Amino acid sequence: MTRTIPLSAPWIDGREEELVLETLRSGQLSLGPMVDRFEAALAGRVASPHVAAVSSGTAGLHLCMRLAGVGPGDEVVTTPFSFVASANCALYEGATPVFADVDPQTLNLDPAAVEASITPRTKAILPVHVFGYPAELAELEAIAERHGLAVVEDACEALGAEYRGRPVGSSGRPAVFAFYPNKQMTTGEGGAVAVATEEEWALLKSLSNQGRSDSGEWLTHARLGYNYRLDDLSAALGLAQLERLDEILAARAEVAARYGALLAAVDGVEAPLADDTEHRRSWFVYVVRVAAGVDRNGVMARLGEDGVASKPYLPSIHLQPFYRERFGYRAGMLPVSEDASARCLALPFHARLAAEDQERVVESLRCALE
Ligand SMILES: Cc1ncc(COP(=O)(O)O)c(C=O)c1O
Repeated sequence: MTRTIPLSAPWIDGREEELVLETLRSGQLSLGPMVDRFEAALAGRVASPHVAAVSSGTAGLHLCMRLAGVGPGDEVVTTPFSFVASANCALYEGATPVFADVDPQTLNLDPAAVEASITPRTKAILPVHVFGYPAELAELEAIAERHGLAVVEDACEALGAEYRGRPVGSSGRPAVFAFYPNKQMTTGEGGAVAVATEEEWALLKSLSNQGRSDSGEWLTHARLGYNYRLDDLSAALGLAQLERLDEILAARAEVAARYGALLAAVDGVEAPLADDTEHRRSWFVYVVRVAAGVDRNGVMARLGEDGVASKPYLPSIHLQPFYRERFGYRAGMLPVSEDASARCLALPFHARLAAEDQERVVESLRCALE
């Protein structure tokens, strides 16, 4: 039997074991010092004054809707080419996600399409740095300023990315990170929100801790909150990963570069967009685009037979069954996103993917495309 090459794998080492064990032995498993240390380290890493740790990226996005004052009747302009959580968060607060199409190169929100989607009910713009490639923040910010809108960044796939020479997360607008095990770094489940002010941070801490009052009284609840806390074991794992983040990101970039070199000799497939002076990608996934007319399902079946995992990544959110039923979306409404969804394919990708395995992946892909 051929060994299957998985799509992703976390890189856990001795330091992670050490800090998690230290936390386990400390007996302080929640609301302890590891969360504070994790928040401070992450704030330093993304050059943001404050970071609030939360239980998932989805939880962070939901709380950012609260920060932005999004509520029933409001609209949030966002991208259809993303993971479903970036649109669902508006629905949690009774608002409507409005999808603007993406740029065919970057696969991120097209600012002109955003501008065209704004109505008197628009409250916020929610760009996603999809696949770790920074969105057009300057243009989106200018649109938001002209219309008096909030901006919330979904940076769940983009820890370590840079826009115009600055880390994603340092813009001054709330930016949400996620740490599921397929991400650049992991806490198991977990997320975090980078914010500019202490007031925003304190509100996030309260909202994620059952709306407890600022006075610290355990049974006083000043607002409607949630249990979106990150526990200390997860934070300890995250702290160890953060200490090694440069090493992890460099290894991922090396794996991506090797794929790029191998794929240059393969017809019928397009490698991910390269960085430029304004956009520096943090490698989250390695997603190729098969040429128009290629039978992607056939390619995936062939990869599967060769023991190579792959995934059609990402399906457009507006065509998910729930969105079709609730909002009446149909194919053809957001053609650029739909075309990307039809042709994108995620290949196995993680920091320690062996060169021989990458060669196996690309050889299988080459045969499948013949
Ligand atoms: C773009 C995007 N937004 C939101 C999320 C949600 O993060 P989590 O799975 O931690 O809730 C993810 C993670 O998969 C994501 O990729």
